[in-house]
Amino acid sequence: METPFIFGKIATEKNFTDREMETDYLVQNFTSLINTIIISPRRWGKSSLVNKVSKMAMEQEKHLRVCHIDLFNVRNEEHFYSLLAQKVIAATSTRWEEAVENAKSFFSQLVPKISIGTDPMNEVSIDFDWEAVKRNPDEVLDLAENIAKKKGVKIVICIDEFQNIAEFTDPDYFQKKLRSHWQLHQHVAYCLYGSKRHMMLEVFTNSSKPFYKFGNLIFLNKIDTPHLVEFFNTRFADTGKSITKEASHLIAKLVDNHPYYAQQLAQQSWLRTKDICTVEIVSEAHAALVEQLSLLFVTITETLTNQQLNYLKALIAGEKSIGSTDVMHRYQISSTTSIARSKAALVKNDILDNKAGEYSFQDPIYAYWLKTEYFGIGK
Ligand SMILES: Nc1ncnc2c1ncn2[C@@H]1O[C@H](COP(=O)(O)OP(=O)(O)O)[C@@H](O)[C@H]1O
Ligand SMILES: [Mg+2]
Repeated sequence: METPFIFGKIATEKNFTDREMETDYLVQNFTSLINTIIISPRRWGKSSLVNKVSKMAMEQEKHLRVCHIDLFNVRNEEHFYSLLAQKVIAATSTRWEEAVENAKSFFSQLVPKISIGTDPMNEVSIDFDWEAVKRNPDEVLDLAENIAKKKGVKIVICIDEFQNIAEFTDPDYFQKKLRSHWQLHQHVAYCLYGSKRHMMLEVFTNSSKPFYKFGNLIFLNKIDTPHLVEFFNTRFADTGKSITKEASHLIAKLVDNHPYYAQQLAQQSWLRTKDICTVEIVSEAHAALVEQLSLLFVTITETLTNQQLNYLKALIAGEKSIGSTDVMHRYQISSTTSIARSKAALVKNDILDNKAGEYSFQDPIYAYWLKTEYFGIGK
């Protein structure tokens, strides 16, 4: 039998819950070509949401094309430009012959090097002479707008892990170039999202940066308990099993409403359930999940400094004023400067999330492991 939960893949259809408001809002933005920026830590559901919205928007609006670009492994402008050209062409062509034709006809200054995969389903791959693009990136940056105008379509370009552009060489100059082109586009909109909150905020909310006020900013939240409970109920029922109200709430609580872990813990609980899933089963599944991840957690913990660990211990213990002399003394934190340094490093390394000055763990299972296994504070 197929298992009713998925994690680590795009959540679609029955695996997708909640987000009604965000979905409506984004579909509206896509069809009206309004630029949007989405920020949330990884595994909270950005890709799943954008995927759903793209499909709905294209169904609603027959002339709309959506293209998806992921910058997770893109570290320089060159790679960015060739990916952009490639994806825009693929999203606006129905056959590879058309893609090749487009690649040729929409460039006059640049000479694209086109190669086609052996498998007909493969995308056409496009490359440029890097020196030429650097001298003249306009044709790549305006490609979508030019294709849209010529073909009478609208295009939304979705770019994941967008904060990576802040690490290219001369990022401000590069961003200025992008913005100066993109803001003139009439037939193209951009949906830019990423999982490094601090870097995304720096790109989009710092008034001295080129992308300041580029579009509507959305912070995607975790999934609230009522939606999760309803979701678990339905998915258990779909497979002829059931789950008690207490057990559903416990899953939501143990994973701190984290979408990915909610599905993972629900899955492990479901696998252990014959008929009815109870709190005992969920607790067992949770212990097994913590155990399964502990090796990874040990590795992460080894990278932390003593001062960072001392700070984390105070945070986990629920200390409210960690900067006070008393708390610093009890947790052997050397100074308030040390706290600031620890916070910055832990946020940078994706261990903590800084939401308007409020620090929380990105990974609820790691937080639990640190508390109970590592620091040995009450299970
Ligand atoms: N709307 C949703 N409903 C249910 N589960 C979700 C939803 N969004 C995300 N998830 C869960 O979280 C996981 C990560 O989602 P993903 O969209 O890849 O997040 P991100 O792009 O932010 O890293 C999915 O595999 C799924 O298990
Ligand atoms: Mg994603």
